[in-house]
Amino acid sequence: MRIILLGPPGAGKGTQAKMIVKDFQIKQLSTGDLLRENRKQGTDLGKEAQKFMDAGDLVPDSVILGMVAEEFKKPELEPGYILDGFPRTCPQADGLDQLLKDQNLNLDHVLVLEVPDSELVRRLTARRSCSECGHIYNLVFNPPQKDGICDHDGSPLIHRSDDTEATVVNRLAVYKKQTEPLIDHYDPQGLVRHIDGTGNVQDIYNRILAVLK
Ligand code: AP5
Repeated sequence: MRIILLGPPGAGKGTQAKMIVKDFQIKQLSTGDLLRENRKQGTDLGKEAQKFMDAGDLVPDSVILGMVAEEFKKPELEPGYILDGFPRTCPQADGLDQLLKDQNLNLDHVLVLEVPDSELVRRLTARRSCSECGHIYNLVFNPPQKDGICDHDGSPLIHRSDDTEATVVNRLAVYKKQTEPLIDHYDPQGLVRHIDGTGNVQDIYNRILAVLK
């Protein structure tokens, strides 16, 4: 199964992708996570991406497409994958079409998580994630048992540098301008499934399951 998870920042793509991965035994490929890992390791790619990410702007398409093409060579993606945060622009969608064509593969679904802007800002400014395992928390909706500490491995939780209110507002504007048009790219292929992304995490997941099964 090959799925694209589309939706604005804070729509719950990461949260839902982790649940899908567990049930369907496929890999999550998050370009945001890959970029953050590169930043953590201090690679040239991470250094190049930093200023775009901190401003809430998109990293250039050539950088993203080169990074994804490398990931696509990995055998662990063979059983299928869920693309989280990619593609995000029309040139990236064209690049993905070409990568799939080269491998003689098709997409199965493009899931679009829909959440109102006011809710997105509330979710993102309260997000915290584990510095080691990446587990996602929310200080309002899903807090850790112990302040600032991951329930799963005891590592410190981090507040993403792009989760400030001003940056979130820019990220939402960038999504509307550059990423939302991708719905029109995939609609003619009959792949788009709109999912109500409000309510509790399990209810949203059940809506996704109803589409996938
Ligand atoms: P990326 O890491 O992809 O971030 P994003 O798309 O902005 O999405 P988020 O990770 O912020 O949100 P999410 O939808 O995964 O929500 P989550 O599940 O965490 O990208 C970051 C940056 O990297 C970009 O701005 C760009 O600079 C760069 N980049 C990445 N990919 C790129 C690309 N392809 N091209 C160019 N640049 C790229 O949930 C959010 C919060 O809400 C959490 O606290 C969670 O606990 C909570 N929550 C989730 N579901 C619910 C619910 N149902 N109710 C209440 N709270 C909930």
